[in-house]
Amino acid sequence: MKKIGVSILGLGVVGGGAYKILTQHREFYQRTQDVDIVVESVLEKNRARALALGVPEERIASNIAEVVFDPDVNIVVEVIGGVEDAREYVLAALNAGKTVVTSNKELVCKFSHELERAAKRHNAGLYFEASCVGGVPIIRTLLDGVQANRISSMMGIINGTTNYILTKMTKEGTTYEEALADAQRLGFAEADPTADVEGYDAAYKLSILSSLAFHTKVPLAKVFREGIAGVDKEDIGHGNSLGYELKLLAVGKQSEAGIEVRVHPAFVRKEHPLANVDGSFNAVFLTGDSVGEVMLYGRGAGELPTGSAVVSDIIYAATHNENKYSTFKNTATADKDVKFVTDFSSAYYLRLNVSDRPGVLAKIASQFGKYGVSIDKLVQAQGAGDKATVILITHETHELSLKNAVAKLDALEIAEVKTVLRVAS
Ligand code: HSE
Repeated sequence: MKKIGVSILGLGVVGGGAYKILTQHREFYQRTQDVDIVVESVLEKNRARALALGVPEERIASNIAEVVFDPDVNIVVEVIGGVEDAREYVLAALNAGKTVVTSNKELVCKFSHELERAAKRHNAGLYFEASCVGGVPIIRTLLDGVQANRISSMMGIINGTTNYILTKMTKEGTTYEEALADAQRLGFAEADPTADVEGYDAAYKLSILSSLAFHTKVPLAKVFREGIAGVDKEDIGHGNSLGYELKLLAVGKQSEAGIEVRVHPAFVRKEHPLANVDGSFNAVFLTGDSVGEVMLYGRGAGELPTGSAVVSDIIYAATHNENKYSTFKNTATADKDVKFVTDFSSAYYLRLNVSDRPGVLAKIASQFGKYGVSIDKLVQAQGAGDKATVILITHETHELSLKNAVAKLDALEIAEVKTVLRVAS
């Protein structure tokens, strides 16, 4: 039976999960995959953590050179996170001809061109299923499951922390601050939650996934990004009563107009399958020209779910003689002839504070009309004194037209625009 030696760099949440799965399932893989996968070493500064996981003392490496020059190591697993050390270690492993499996979305998003070049030069594999959407096999699906299709759209909830926060605000009516504190207490959100709540984490993942889905490099700089930190529970409540759930959506579209990639909060109709993806769960909804609609749903983070993705890559690499690389020209920047849509179209939700007197709504509708923005729904929510809260849902319109109409309303002092949120179509 073929024996494959693995070294794991980093025994944090994901590394620990991968270690547990590999050691507990070793015989299962011998039987089902006809391969004996052995953890030859781990590189972990915190020796106590390694020992607590059951790693034999002699298998704790002291430096990266010990790992990459070990002839018994075929596959190096990078799960330390961050980009500086990780990039150096991954390049060292690839340059030594070792196949690399990584869960590092920032590294893959920013440096996949450099890593892939090194991998090809040294006939090594480079696999990163665990970098996007934890245990959900979205990368394998894009590469090996729906590759018959031209993908026109990808819409996903690809960050568990923000989905946990928005679900809590929706179901329990808590404020953003309360929900974030709860997510931190439960270990979903980090002490510095910026990467999750400002949408960076989702933007890294969307850059990787849309490059694979659309077969062209989609650099991070092309991903429009807006986080959830400003979200007000009042808007979630108004949206709910109109039949919507608020989600941090990652949207990738490809059409004749070009490629459109964006991460932002958006209202999703309650009937849409993504509206029911709650808590720390993730999902990706794909539309292909032959298959139609496909949705993948599961845990986007966590020790064993993300460990599952890491180990699936290890097994893939261990059981395939040929390496599999990107299905596009993997460069640092996008191809010159690829167009990106910046003025995208969407429906919008607006919360306005207006003077409660005759003719005001007509003026608002007329201003929107001048900018080509058509109103789909209008609800006067409640009043306080001579002011009233008005909720508008527009038909699909260009973002720029909407912004111009909102600026004009503000300037004319007809209405104070409190909130603008996108509505997914
Ligand atoms: N922090 C991420 C999330 C998991 O909340 O989904 C790792 O990408």
